[in-house]
Amino acid sequence: MHIFITGVSKGLGKEFVDYFLTAGHLVTGIGRSHSFDHTNFNFIHCDLSNVNEVKSVKFDCKENEVVLINNAGIIGNIKRISDQNESDIQEVMTVNAIAPMILCQGFLRQTNDDNKLTIINISSGAANRPIPSWAAYCSSKIAMDRFSETIYLEEQEKGRNINVFSVAPGVIDTSMQEKIRATNKVDFSSLDNFRSLHENGELTSPNDAVNKLVKLIQKKESNPVICNLNDL
Ligand SMILES: NC(=O)c1ccc[n+]([C@@H]2O[C@H](COP(=O)([O-])OP(=O)(O)OC[C@H]3O[C@@H](n4cnc5c(N)ncnc54)[C@H](OP(=O)(O)O)[C@@H]3O)[C@@H](O)[C@H]2O)c1
Repeated sequence: MHIFITGVSKGLGKEFVDYFLTAGHLVTGIGRSHSFDHTNFNFIHCDLSNVNEVKSVKFDCKENEVVLINNAGIIGNIKRISDQNESDIQEVMTVNAIAPMILCQGFLRQTNDDNKLTIINISSGAANRPIPSWAAYCSSKIAMDRFSETIYLEEQEKGRNINVFSVAPGVIDTSMQEKIRATNKVDFSSLDNFRSLHENGELTSPNDAVNKLVKLIQKKESNPVICNLNDL
């Protein structure tokens, strides 16, 4: 199996790569940096906030079974939109939604009908409800949910052998959660919830999350396309 995955420098993405390399698979990381030194790992340097760089990513598939995991994501400036001096709306939407959409398009165009394909877009529970101070983040994730459902139907119409998932991974113990907990309470009404999840040891480890998320690759069909970690 050949896995293409974005955002492999830390967090969930780094854990995914460790899992796949240990299992003997070929991995291509896509992103700004990485720390892997392994014969089965290669890296495409790409800043996902730069659309031209994203468009130039090539999917040079070496195996029949190919997986794309759009993992990289940013929470952005955690403040109400009207309180943000310099909004990063464009960066959040580009990294979390435009870049993964362009990568899905490149992946679908550059793979063959003979390939067995899986796309896993890492979404968020924030797609399902409005969370004040995360307006761009919530919007980017719900965009990926609907995009994933749509491209799955499109590829079904073309009779291709593909599964597409948009999965909310739960609350995971990564640097994204550190950033959330470090927010100023005045700016973020849900701060106490995230701090208590951490204090009560309720965050999922990246290792436990990956062990569940990889089950998506073995699924016979994308039913449902939009899912969450607890379903796996
Ligand atoms: N942690 C959670 O509780 C949680 C909950 C729900 C959903 N998620 C989703 O899970 C995914 C992984 O998040 P995480 O918690 O592992 O976050 P993380 O620890 O902050 O890691 C984010 C990854 O994305 C990469 N990235 C960010 N901006 C990039 C850019 N412009 N170009 C290329 N790569 C970029 C980072 O690389 P650099 O080192 O280059 O910045 C890093 O490898 C995200 O899509 C996130 O939205 C996380």
